[in-house]
Amino acid sequence: MCGIVGYVGHRDSQSILIEGLKKLEYRGYDSAGIAVYTGKGMEVRKAKGRLAVLEGQLKEKPIAGSVGIGHTRWATHGKPTENNAHPHASGKVAVVHNGIIENYAALRKMLKMQGHTFTSETDTEVLAHLIEAAYDGKLEDAVIDALNLVEGTYGIAVISSKDPDKIVCARKGSPLLIGLGENEYYVASDVAAILQHTRQVVYLDDGEMGVLTKNGYEVLDLNARRIKKGVSRIDWSLDEIEKGGYDHFMLKEIFEQPNTIFETMRGRLVAEEGFSKLGGLNLSKEELLSFDQVVITACGTSWHSALIGEMYIEELARIRTEVEYASEFRYRNPIVNDKTLCVVVSQSGETADTLAAMREAKQRGAKTLGLVNVVGSTIAREDHGGIYLHAGPEIGVASTKAFTSQVIALALLTLKLARLRTMSVLKGREVAEAMLALPQQVQQILEGASEIEKIAERFKNASNFLYLGRGYNFPVALEGALKLKEISYIHAEGYPAAEMKHGPIALIDEEMPVVFVAPHDAVFEKVVSNIQEVKARGGKVICITSQEEPVLDGLIDFELRVPQTVDMLYPVLTVIPLQLLAYYIAVKRGLNVDQPRNLAKSVTVE
Ligand code: G6P
Repeated sequence: MCGIVGYVGHRDSQSILIEGLKKLEYRGYDSAGIAVYTGKGMEVRKAKGRLAVLEGQLKEKPIAGSVGIGHTRWATHGKPTENNAHPHASGKVAVVHNGIIENYAALRKMLKMQGHTFTSETDTEVLAHLIEAAYDGKLEDAVIDALNLVEGTYGIAVISSKDPDKIVCARKGSPLLIGLGENEYYVASDVAAILQHTRQVVYLDDGEMGVLTKNGYEVLDLNARRIKKGVSRIDWSLDEIEKGGYDHFMLKEIFEQPNTIFETMRGRLVAEEGFSKLGGLNLSKEELLSFDQVVITACGTSWHSALIGEMYIEELARIRTEVEYASEFRYRNPIVNDKTLCVVVSQSGETADTLAAMREAKQRGAKTLGLVNVVGSTIAREDHGGIYLHAGPEIGVASTKAFTSQVIALALLTLKLARLRTMSVLKGREVAEAMLALPQQVQQILEGASEIEKIAERFKNASNFLYLGRGYNFPVALEGALKLKEISYIHAEGYPAAEMKHGPIALIDEEMPVVFVAPHDAVFEKVVSNIQEVKARGGKVICITSQEEPVLDGLIDFELRVPQTVDMLYPVLTVIPLQLLAYYIAVKRGLNVDQPRNLAKSVTVE
C-alpha cells in the first residue's frame, strides 16, 4: 500500500528517490518523505499531500547525498500529517516502513520509559527508536535486534549517519526487492520504482534482510547468516508504466483490453480441441480429477471475477465451488482439505488478506493456484501453481484490465477442468472460438466510447446509482457499482436484478439512474420484467444489451450495445461500458481518477 524506494551508489539520490516514488504513488499518496545522508549528517524532508508538494519543496531546497530512502504513505496509524509521514527518525537512524507493527503500543511504552520521545502517532516510529537503542557499531545487527522484538508485518529500509554508507532493508509480509546496478544498488517495494535504472532484481522473502553498499549487496537471515539468492530479470518495458498519450492510466488500461485479453489466452487456448494448455498449474491429470471442491478466494474487483469463476466451474466442470472474501475466510473454520483446489485471484499478488487466506488453505492441505498479474509477487511465489494474467502493469487504482484477464484465466481453468470431466469437444470448441473473438469485440465497444461519455454527462451529478444484472452478469453489476463509487464517490449499489424487489426498489424515483446489464442470454426475459418494474416507478434506465429488441421499446432511456457472444463470456464485454461510464463520470466531476481518495492499489495490511 505504501511505497518504498532507496538508493546507494555514486549519484545524487534525491532525484532517483523522487522519480521512484512517482512510480509508486499509486500505492499510497497521502504524504511522502525522503531521508538522505549528506556526508555530514542525515536530513529528513517530509510533506503532507501528494508527492508534488514534497517535490516542490526539494526543488527550492535540495538535499545532496548518494545514500537515501523514500516513502509514499497510505495512512494506517495516525492521520496523514507531516509528522506522521515517513521516514521516521530517532537521533541518527531513519526508517521507512510498509506494514503494521502490532505490538507498537507496548514497545512505545517501554521506549518512553527508557527516555525516548516520540513525535508521531505511527507504529513505525518505534522501529527507528529500537534500532537506535540497539546500535553497537553495525547497522544490520541493530536492525536484527530491533526486528526480533517486533510483532507484525514489515517491509523496511533503514539508513543511519552512524554507519553511513549503507542501506539495510528487511521483509516480513510486505514486498521488497533489491535492484542491482553498476556500483549502485536500489531497494524498492515494487519494481516499477527502479525499472528505469535496472532490470536485475533479487526478491526478498519473509525473514530476509538486505545490506546494500555501493560496492555490493548481501542477503542475510535474522540470525545474520548469509543466504544465496537468485537474480531475476524483469521483462516489463518502461512504456508499459507510462501513460502513453492517454489522460489517465485508467483510460489507457481500459483501452489496452483487446490486447491484454489476447495475452491472457495466448499460447494457452487450443481452439480446435476446445481445450487449454496451462503450463504453470503443476498439477497432474490425476490430481486435477481428484478435487471434489473448489474454493476461490479474493478481495475487491478480484472477488467479482471469482464469482464469475464459480459459475463457470460449477456449470461446466460440475465441481462444487465456493467464493470467499479472503478477509473472512481466514478467520473462520472453513471445510478445506486435500481434496480442495484453492484458487487465489489477485492482480497484485500482494493483498495481505488474500495471501493469508492462501496460506490458511495450504496449511489445511489444499492445493493452491494463483491467478496473479504481477510476476514474482508473493502469492505467485508461494502458491503450488498458477496462471499468470500477462495483462502488463496495472497502475490505475481502479482495476480494469486485470478483471477481464481474470475472467479469461478462470475460463481457461474451467476448460481444463471441464474437458477432463464431462465437457464435450464440441462445447469446448464453441467456448474457445467465442473467446478468440473477444479482443475484436472489445475493440468494437471501445470505438463507441463517445456514446458512453454522453450518458456520463447526463448523470454526472447523480447522488445514487443502482446496477442490476442476473446470472453471469450479476457480478458485472457489482463491479460496475464498485468502479463508480471508487472513483466518482457517488453511492452505487450492485444487486441481483430480481432481488431489487426486496429493498433497493424503495430508492427508485425519477432521479435514480438504474443500470441494467442485460445481454441476450438465458435470463434476458427475466431481466426485462425487472426493467419494467423500475420503469413503472419512474427510474431512469441505462441498459447494456446485445441486440435490437422490440420488447425494450419505451422501457429504456439509454441503450448501449455490445456484440453477441456465448452466455458465459458476456461479462468480458458488458463490463467495458461500465468501466468507461465510471471513468467519464469521475473525470466530469473533476476528480483524480488514478488516485482516488482513501484507496490504495495494493492493500498489504489486514
Ligand atoms: C484494492 C484495489 C482493488 C483491488 C483489490 C484487490 O482494493 O484498490 O482495485 O481489486 O485491492 O487487489 P488484488 O491485487 O488482490 O487483486
